[in-house]
Amino acid sequence: MIPKGVQIDEPTGKLGVLLVGLGAVSTTFIAGVEAIRRKMAQPIGSLAEMGTIRLGKRTEGRSPKIKEFVSLASLDNLVFGAWDIFEDNCYEAALHCGVLEKSMLETLRPQLEKIRPMSAVFDQHYVKRLNGTNIKQGKTKRDLANQLIEDMKEFRSKNDCSRLVIVWCASTEIFMKLSPVHETLEAFEKAMDENHPDIAPSMIYAYAAIKSRVPFANGAPNLTVDVPALSQLAQEMGVPICGKDFKTGQTFMKTLLAPGLKSRMLGLHGWYSTNILGNRDGEVLDDPESFKTKEESKLSVLEYILQPEIYPELYGDFSHLVRINYYPPRGDNKEGWDNIDIFGWLGYPMQIKINFLCRDSILAAPIVLDLALFMDLAQRCSMRGVQEWLSFYFKSPMTAPQLYPEHDLFIQLMKLKNTLRHLKGEELITHLGLEYYD
Ligand SMILES: NC(=O)c1ccc[n+]([C@@H]2O[C@H](COP(=O)([O-])OP(=O)(O)OC[C@H]3O[C@@H](n4cnc5c(N)ncnc54)[C@H](O)[C@@H]3O)[C@@H](O)[C@H]2O)c1
Repeated sequence: MIPKGVQIDEPTGKLGVLLVGLGAVSTTFIAGVEAIRRKMAQPIGSLAEMGTIRLGKRTEGRSPKIKEFVSLASLDNLVFGAWDIFEDNCYEAALHCGVLEKSMLETLRPQLEKIRPMSAVFDQHYVKRLNGTNIKQGKTKRDLANQLIEDMKEFRSKNDCSRLVIVWCASTEIFMKLSPVHETLEAFEKAMDENHPDIAPSMIYAYAAIKSRVPFANGAPNLTVDVPALSQLAQEMGVPICGKDFKTGQTFMKTLLAPGLKSRMLGLHGWYSTNILGNRDGEVLDDPESFKTKEESKLSVLEYILQPEIYPELYGDFSHLVRINYYPPRGDNKEGWDNIDIFGWLGYPMQIKINFLCRDSILAAPIVLDLALFMDLAQRCSMRGVQEWLSFYFKSPMTAPQLYPEHDLFIQLMKLKNTLRHLKGEELITHLGLEYYD
């Protein structure tokens, strides 16, 4: 329980942002922050950097920037590091991903070239389509975790960081279910010593992060840190964790639209979503086992928002299909199509079509920035365990075990801002507003 108006430690010194995976999302994020620092661009898409927060009554005119209200780390104080199974530095990787223009990457080249990935914890069993050489060797999964812990120590001292955060931006692993080895910390550690297959590489990173008291956010749909053993460890070590799966393109649209349809009590017969994308993420998701992990994450959203058990006449029997096809010509510029069959008054059918020509990594990069800044804030406020107030950023938000996740983007935003008000001892905003009419 976080008391109202806590003491927030100032973000003095450097904040090391460590990324697992130096692919399209990570390089777009790092290059973007470098460009923003040089005043070549604005932090568009970042709530933490551009957003404001209303305080007090609507008549008071108090709306400071969020970053000033809660003292977020300054972009000038961020230092970047990464792990990847390929040896390409950040400049080479960004060039290969082809998201940002060459001319911008050339300008930033000296900074980007300095970021060389540390060797990764990887096993092809969990990501079938990838095969790299920059990989750690270790007798057991616990040994590998210890090597990651050493990496973090070394990075921290070499870069003179006062704090670190980790964001998982690596490929989606195969679908895994919760198993007995994930239930308790004891079972989890034993399983690491025995190289149990239910301990995926992403879990080894998460374990190492928590053991090092480093906040860990998971941008992919893998189970990773969303297991009781690691939640327990995070509580014990006083470390914030959050996930899963950045909410960017199609699911972002779904969580905008579905709450609106439901608010007007419009019914749903079906929602068909298809995507074409041609980046490495698309290639990994072309493997059915990795796709299954993504599919589960994307499918859950409508069920939770529409609550068919409460509204069986409207949402008791809808079809929901999600397809992702790897189509190389598109690169990172994904195209999403949605066909939505709705019904209204007297059951008359209607259709909505959405064609979103988006850019995956352009949408994801500001989310990485916000998560790094807010997870650092959480750590400075002694917030521990699952950070549900950051659900705003995820397709499958992690919650306390007894809760269902909240997917409605506007409720998520209110929760995020009210958490910040609470931390600073400000009145929460309920939008009741009766006092203006007394
Ligand atoms: N871009 C989006 O809009 C979006 C939205 C939601 C989730 N995601 C997820 O974010 C992740 C990153 O997406 P991307 O487009 O940057 O993918 P990408 O394929 O360009 O980059 C992933 C990188 O991770 C590396 N990697 C894989 N396993 C690793 C391991 N065990 N340790 C270290 N590195 C490892 C790969 O070599 C690759 O360089 C994916 O899991 C994707 O599903 C992206």
